[in-house]
Amino acid sequence: MAKLKIYEYPHPILKKKAENYSGVDDELRRFLDDMLETMYEANGCGLAAPQVGVSKRAVVVDIAREGEEPAPMYLVNPEIIWKSDEKEICEEGCLSLPELRAEVERPASVRVRYIDYDGKACELLAEDFLAVAIQHELDHLDGILYIDHVSRLKRQMLVKKLEKNRKEKRS
Ligand code: NI
Repeated sequence: MAKLKIYEYPHPILKKKAENYSGVDDELRRFLDDMLETMYEANGCGLAAPQVGVSKRAVVVDIAREGEEPAPMYLVNPEIIWKSDEKEICEEGCLSLPELRAEVERPASVRVRYIDYDGKACELLAEDFLAVAIQHELDHLDGILYIDHVSRLKRQMLVKKLEKNRKEKRS
């Protein structure tokens, strides 16, 4: 396995709509393994292919807490096929926007259709934090970041903070 480079805001690949895979093969499985390793090393709970420079529809998620057994999920060509009317607000962060967090409102549960690590077609009803993580990662495949879901003022504040953090790190 290999650790991949994580692309950060405002890299243009993060704004691009990603393309479907034609199926799951060993090469894609190797890439999914690398994505998962990269995500664990960065202490993230989700990572989408565009965040490592690949504009394709693949996502890894693991919402197990520290001390719990790892529970990796691999979603290829994922699609949300149902969203609840009920919404929930949750604080989100993103490996492409390091050290920032903001509250985002999203549907409380979603049903997702995807292809798994073995190439099998699956469906899943995601609730609570898994629903948040999956919606956040699937957004990445359409070039959407969580800061696109907050007010313009809040977004400007977050981007300013990111730039300030970067400047401080450089000096
Ligand atoms: Ni993200």
